[in-house]
Order: sequence, then structure tokens, then C-alpha cells
Amino acid sequence: MDSFAFIIHPLNPRRDIQRKYPLLGRIASDWMIYHLSPLWPPVFLSEVEGVTSAATGKAIKGYLLACPLSPQHFLGLPEKKVYTKIIETGRLAERLGASILGLGAFTSVVGDAGVTVAETLDIPVTTGDAYTVAVAVEAIWEAARQMEIPLESACAAIVGATGSIGRVCAEMLACAATPPAELVLFARRRPALEALQAHLQARCPGVNVTISTDLAELRRAHLVLTVTSAIDAVVDPACLQAGAVVCDVARPRDVAASLAGKRPDVLVIDGGMVDTPGGPAVDFHFNFGLPPRQAFACMAETMALALEGRFADYTIGKNFDLAHVNEIRQIASKHGFRLSGFRSFERPVTAEQIEQVRRAAHRQ
Ligand SMILES: NC(=O)c1ccc[n+]([C@@H]2O[C@H](COP(=O)([O-])OP(=O)(O)OC[C@H]3O[C@@H](n4cnc5c(N)ncnc54)[C@H](OP(=O)(O)O)[C@@H]3O)[C@@H](O)[C@H]2O)c1
Repeated sequence: MDSFAFIIHPLNPRRDIQRKYPLLGRIASDWMIYHLSPLWPPVFLSEVEGVTSAATGKAIKGYLLACPLSPQHFLGLPEKKVYTKIIETGRLAERLGASILGLGAFTSVVGDAGVTVAETLDIPVTTGDAYTVAVAVEAIWEAARQMEIPLESACAAIVGATGSIGRVCAEMLACAATPPAELVLFARRRPALEALQAHLQARCPGVNVTISTDLAELRRAHLVLTVTSAIDAVVDPACLQAGAVVCDVARPRDVAASLAGKRPDVLVIDGGMVDTPGGPAVDFHFNFGLPPRQAFACMAETMALALEGRFADYTIGKNFDLAHVNEIRQIASKHGFRLSGFRSFERPVTAEQIEQVRRAAHRQ
């Protein structure tokens, strides 16, 4: 049976270590967790079963593995050390016989986004970033539809627009049949924003693309797709207008969970999640914080490629294009992956919440 492996890592080290080692997570000090985890070997978390193509009936199995580094380690340790740790985890996938390996969260953000890892390992690798783009943009479009926000008069913003994922999300929105009235791109470095603005203006003539490094300007956005690699929350719902929708694709989150419920007139949805085909038989045998059968889009890209039998490096590096996103979107859709129902800070979004924010939007 073909199989995939997928690497995750602690985002909130104490909470996530407790999911695998309840006692250790309770008794270890923060100092111990921070200093000992880079010395910890890669961890086998679980075997995934039941993932089955809706198109062909092909079933695959999978392995969830953990690279024992936190976002602080990924951004703070020397790059070579981080690569070594990811490659060690990839070697575990090879020993398990996985046919393809997916790189989750910061294992795909760091350095050259999978190029070195793919060159070193003997099994094919993907970051999953292409399907993450497809799912993030689909979520924003669906949110606009449910909230009755007309795209042709809306201001849409992308925070982290110059990153691997943000850049192609921007292109997908700008080149869509109905682009937003204004597309505002946010990041910290202005030259990269200017280059992206010029690229989009050339690629999608007539689309109104503006740039900003000041997140206070998010106030004019109706739709916000946020996907930075910041370790701490960067988007404060306090600076958003009533009726705005934020789709938070970043992990760790760009909108602090502590702000849940503080702006009932703003809808914050957890972005980048899909339902996995295979029905009730799908079991990840590990709680990585999502409801049963739900997966992150990057994990879903790895599973979709295994169902398709595409065992070659797929989304690697920071410069993939829209055609690549459209291809994986078709492959995933064919095998039965679907955008999940909206959740906000890990809870299902209720019809009342949508109605409350919709009314706020219409009062503007
Ligand atoms: N949900 C999923 O399935 C899924 C899948 C893959 C990745 N992700 C998540 O997506 C996020 C982005 O990944 P990526 O590979 O696109 O990262 P990336 O290539 O490193 O891009 C990060 C972007 O964020 C901006 N940025 C970083 N820190 C910022 C800050 N403090 N304030 C404002 N902008 C900031 C960067 O520009 P400047 O440096 O100029 O600010 C850049 O535009 C990560 O959190 C990752 O874990 C989620």
C-alpha cells in the first residue's frame, strides 16, 4: 500500500509536548523544554489510516512524525542545525517506507523551503504550500459569499503578502474573474512589496494593487487573509472595521487566541483546513488540534499526491506559480478533499455569528 509521512512540530511547546508525553509536559520547566527539545530525536506520533480516494477507491496509510523544534528554534538556531533536524525526521519517514514526505508549518518556512531537504533525502518531498494557497483563497471567497460582501466593491488585504504562500494568494485574488476593488499587500520590507506590486500590475492589468508596511491600515479592509511567519500575533482585531472577515492561515496564529470573542462584529476564521476523504474510517490516531478527519491543507497536499501516485518532489522552494496551485487543486478535488466548515479559534462558526457580523457589515 502506498503511504505518506508528514512532519509536524510543536507550535506551543508545553501544550504540544503534553499531547504526546502528558507527564513530561506537566513537570518539565520552560527552560528544560526549550534547551532539551533540540537534543530530542525525531518522534513517531501515529499511523494514519482510512484515507481513501473518492475517485478511484485507492486507500493509503500515513505516518505523523514530529520534528522536536519550536518556531523560536526554527528562526533562532543556525540554519544548518535546523536542516539536520528536519532531515533526521525525514530519514525516519524513509525507514518507515513512506512513498512521499510532507513538510508542515515551519519545517517548510525555514531557509530554502524544502530544497535542501529534498536534495538530501531519498524520498520525494513537498511543502504543501500550493494547496494551502488554493484552500486559503477558497475560504476567503466562501466567507465573502456567506457574509454577502461583494468582491467587486471590497477591499481585500493580504498580510505576509511577499511570502511563499502570500505571494501566490495575492496573484490568485488579483487574477480572478472578479478581483477585489482594492488589493492591499502588507509585509515589513517595502522593496519586496514594491516588486510584488509591479509584478501583479503587469500580470493583471487594471487591478488596483496598493502596498503598506503599517498594519493600522488594515482598517479599510473588508477581507483579510493573513499568512505571516511571525512567531507572535501581528493582527489586532481592534484595528479592523465592523463586519470584516479575517482568514488566519498562519501557524502559529497571526491573530491571538486570547482575542477570541473580543470583537463579535468581526469574523476570524481558522484558514487552511480541509476534510479528508474516506469517511468515518479516516483516523489520524493523534490529536493535533483539529476535529476528526480534518487536516491542514499542506498535509492534504501530501495525501492527495500519494492518492494520485505522484511520487516526485512537488511544491519545493519559495517560487511556485498559479498553474501549480491550480493543478494540485484539481488533484485534491478529484480525490475528494473539500474545504472544511468554518471554525474560529478551534470552535465551529455558528449561523448566529455569521448573522451578527453580516448585520455589522451592512450597518457600515
Ligand atoms: N494552514 C496550513 O496548512 C499552512 C501550510 C503551510 C504553511 N502555513 C503557515 O503559513 C505561514 C507563512 O508561511 P510561508 O512559507 O509563506 O512563510 P514565508 O515565505 O517566510 O513568508 C512570510 C511572510 O510574512 C511576512 N512577515 C514575517 N514576519 C512578519 C511580521 N512580524 N509582520 C508582518 N509581516 C511579517 C514576511 O515579509 P517581511 O519579512 O517583509 O515582513 C513574508 O511576507 C507560516 O505561519 C506557516 O506555518 C500554514
